[in-house]
Amino acid sequence: MWRGNSERVSTLIDVRRLPSHVAIIMDGNGRWAQHRGAMRPVGHREGSQTVRRIVRASRRLGLRALTLYAFSEQNWQRPSFEVDALMELLREFLVSERDEILDNGIRLTSIGRTDLLAARVLDVLRPLEAESAQNTGMTLCLALSYGGREELADTMRALAERVAKGELPASALDETAIDGAMPSMALGPVDLLVRTGGEQRISNFLLWNAAYAELVFSERLWPEFDVEDLYAAIGEYQGRDRRFGKVSSLEADAARESAASGLVFVQA
Ligand code: FPP
Repeated sequence: MWRGNSERVSTLIDVRRLPSHVAIIMDGNGRWAQHRGAMRPVGHREGSQTVRRIVRASRRLGLRALTLYAFSEQNWQRPSFEVDALMELLREFLVSERDEILDNGIRLTSIGRTDLLAARVLDVLRPLEAESAQNTGMTLCLALSYGGREELADTMRALAERVAKGELPASALDETAIDGAMPSMALGPVDLLVRTGGEQRISNFLLWNAAYAELVFSERLWPEFDVEDLYAAIGEYQGRDRRFGKVSSLEADAARESAASGLVFVQA
């Protein structure tokens, strides 16, 4: 984790090695507000300004896909005034960003049990998803009424129904079949998962997709997270050695060289 609470330092990023799919858990809005003696929705409003900045920066950088955890399945249990405020902010965001999304070739999608969202959100979300569906720039995916375990359960149920109907043999239920049936996997696996706000947990976000994601935790509260912090997270990602359960390429080279030279490692 980087502390992210003092001055920001510019990060050099290799644009040829960007993470293809970045996902962000935008945490810390409530604390940001509480530190200022304000109500939690004030923090969410400030957080929605951060969303605008980070979406714009991600597109300019050339990210292929950005998934934002905007409202979890569990967030329905928050006080109704907070839920209402979040619905209003979502609507405002979709209305105010519509032109920028369309003008910049961004494709807007959503995952989660979105049918549960307030009608005033769906009234702007659905048309914008349809209007931007053919765009080929960055995909911005909003996770709304989303839970990773719930998505897994829904996917398993849908696959089980196909098996019951005889459309799919049970033996075909492998990782590829699950990938194909899981809405969030339409954007492929997550390469970089960022969480702001100082906590180090995944909180039921993209559980299947993030199997090999690099995790970066920032102390910065979401309303304070800025473009330099995004660059720093990507810089940290680029400094990691992604092994996907195998050995690193350097170790593999060394092993091949020693095998070719007849040398073997022995343990005392
Ligand atoms: C977690 O912070 C954040 C949320 C539950 C909502 C995130 C929503 C936004 C950033 C704004 C609206 C979204 C869009 C896409 C316009 P928290 O309230 O749990 O913070 P805390 O841990 O400090 O209490």
